[in-house]
Parts: sequence; C-alpha cells; structure tokens
Amino acid sequence: MDQIIGNLIVRLEVTDSTNNYANRQIREHGLTEGTVFLAYEQTTGRGQQNNSWESVPGENLLFSIVLFLDFLEIRRQFMISKVVALGIYKALNKYVDSLKIKWPNDIYAGNRKLGGILIENSIMSGLLKSSIVGIGLNVNQTIFYSNAPNPVSLKMLTNQHFDSEIILTEILSGIDWYYSLLRNGEEEIIDREFISALYRINEKHFFKAEDVVFEGEILGVNAIGQLLIRKNDGEVLDFHFKEVEFLQVSHYKKRN
Ligand code: BTN
Repeated sequence: MDQIIGNLIVRLEVTDSTNNYANRQIREHGLTEGTVFLAYEQTTGRGQQNNSWESVPGENLLFSIVLFLDFLEIRRQFMISKVVALGIYKALNKYVDSLKIKWPNDIYAGNRKLGGILIENSIMSGLLKSSIVGIGLNVNQTIFYSNAPNPVSLKMLTNQHFDSEIILTEILSGIDWYYSLLRNGEEEIIDREFISALYRINEKHFFKAEDVVFEGEILGVNAIGQLLIRKNDGEVLDFHFKEVEFLQVSHYKKRN
C-alpha cells in the first residue's frame, strides 16, 4: 500500500519555522496530504508554550507534515498526538534504550528530552480541516545553548553520528503506520501502545498542580487527552496540558 506520509518532501535551506512555511503553503496552494517541509535551518523555530526551538543548522531534524483529518471529530484530536509520537517512538526505539513518550507528546530518553512535537490545527465548521505537525528531533547536536532544561540528542545517547535522512525515512514510515491504523478505526491498538510507551506510567512520582505538590501514579490518558493521575489517597485527578508539572525529584521532601 502506498505511503501517505512523506509522499512529497520539500527541502528548505532556511525558513522561519517549517510550521509557518507549511501554513503559508496551505493557504496559497493546494497541498497533497502527507507533504513534508524539511529545513536545514530555522530562524524562529517554535516550541510548545511560546518557547523557541533550538537547533544548530544541519545537525538535527526539523520538519512539518501536513495532514487532512476531516474524518476525526475535534474532541478526538489527541489521537493525532498519539499517532505522531508513536510513529517517532517506533522509529527510534531500536537506537535508544529507555525511550518513552512524555505526555502529551514529548519524546524522552530517560529523563531527557530528545524531541518535541508542535501540532497546529485549523478548524472549519466544527471539523478539523488541516493539521500541521511540526517535529524537532535532536540528532547530532551535542552542545545546547538555550535554557531548555534537559535536552539530549541521538548522538549524545549513543556516541554515534546519525544520517538524519535515514532517521527521517524511518520516522515518516512509523507515523504512516499509525496513521493508517487511525484511518482504519484501529484506535484500541493505538491507545494500548501509547499507554505502554508512556513516561512514568504506573510509577509513584511527585507532581505539582496549582502550586500544590502531591505524590501519585499516572494511570493513563482519557479520550480527550487529559492525563489521569491517582493520588496516594486514591483520588483520581485529570489534567489538561500545562495544568500539571512533572517533578524530577523522586523523594521529594515535603515541608510541614
Ligand atoms: C516542543 O516544544 O516540544 C515542540 C517543538 C517542535 C519543534 C519543531 S521543529 C519543526 C517545527 N517548526 C517549528 O517551528 N517547530 C516545530
């Protein structure tokens, strides 16, 4: 069966952000679903929460994929995050030990961030029209200059230089795999694999929400993509993105 994701790869020497570039192209031309915009360098690469995304030119993978998800109801949009994160996970799992998906959609190796995903949806008449899925993956960069808290690259993890074209091909085919599961209604498989790849699932850790630190255990993610955490007292809380912080300390000392 033909692959949709990456059927066309547009290579850019430099652009502001591949997400912005893809967005302009969607407005100006008709695009085929699965088109990828790949940049050697971004001048204003964007991350989640208005952060910038750092990358030394040519050392990492910076790309955006255009998807048309008119078959997906808006309330199920977290499925896109799952599909993309799992596709990256499938591609990289053979290179990296302790690879995980940190909710909602970061790619982690141990406690360090290897890659991030920025999904920007456009909605028309209550339906998802197009989605721009931006992916930044640290491949060969070994020194990070921004204040990103815990970056890591494939090279730092393995002491090997990687051919980013090979990694790109593997990621695109990984995402295509899960995207076809989504289109075929195989959501249970996606959900199951997402849960088993989830960072800190079923482990006791400390979290912070509304300035309160608590200990609990991640149980999973609900249908609208909220993170479910069971506190030590048994109460199950649900969180939207940005409402809860993962604390790195494993034995947090409470001040009472
Ligand atoms: C995050 O903060 O974790 C998301 C980072 C997403 C970065 C990628 S790099 C390619 C695409 N273009 C951007 O400006 N951002 C995304």
